[in-house]
Amino acid sequence: MNIQINELVKTFRKGENTIPAVNHLSSTVRDGSFTAVVGKSGSGKSTLLNLVGGLDRPDSGEIIIDGKNVAALNRRELSVYRKTTVGIIFQSFNLIHHRTAQENVELSLAFNGITGRKRKEKSKALLESVGLGERLDHLPNELSGGETQRVSIARALANDPHVLLADEPTGNLDSSTSHEIMQLLQRLNKESGLTIIMVTHDRETAEIVSDHLIQLKDGAIMDEKIR
Ligand SMILES: Nc1ncnc2c1ncn2[C@@H]1O[C@H](COP(=O)(O)OP(=O)(O)O)[C@@H](O)[C@H]1O
Ligand SMILES: [Mg+2]
Repeated sequence: MNIQINELVKTFRKGENTIPAVNHLSSTVRDGSFTAVVGKSGSGKSTLLNLVGGLDRPDSGEIIIDGKNVAALNRRELSVYRKTTVGIIFQSFNLIHHRTAQENVELSLAFNGITGRKRKEKSKALLESVGLGERLDHLPNELSGGETQRVSIARALANDPHVLLADEPTGNLDSSTSHEIMQLLQRLNKESGLTIIMVTHDRETAEIVSDHLIQLKDGAIMDEKIR
């Protein structure tokens, strides 16, 4: 399922002024693509990702996925959408600190009603798939930055999302760890056909990993390349 974005607008109020964070943006993210969104700080990257992820609502415009306009879903539909269609990872890993790697993934599964042995097995399989089969019982503060991001990737994949949204996923990592995380994302994209939309300010990396590059300026597309 492609993601069709039509004339998307999101403005924020700042005192007297309104800031157009996303400004009449249209694009098609192809099914199975690895799309990178680049642009300077403040260009609207995170706002765009949050709109696609259903974490925020646009003022106008459409985001059509699977025949549904995400922008028009009611609260309950939106929460189903967030649970079933998209997985999201951030720069700050947002794990629960007093829970082990496996428990963090299990919590996500629990939200979708997966219980008991199935939950144990699936969380283990997910962590193995991101290379953390030996770290199931570690707490987040017993893991390296790269390992922690892998746990959050496993957690984001818990509900078999169609689309993985990543906001500066390597923003807190050193360059070699960043490279490993990029390789993992590329593998998930190629091997599982997972559609990925990744925000980064690292244009060089974006050029290497993506097959669709969107460059934003002031909330609008300044340049777009599709391979
Ligand atoms: N919750 C908010 N309230 C007010 N302004 C916001 C909010 N979120 C983002 N903005 C503004 O919208 C613009 C785009 O922000 P953002 O999408 O975070 O950019 P980027 O991720 O590219 O750095 C910026 O001018 C930012 O200050
Ligand atoms: Mg941002």
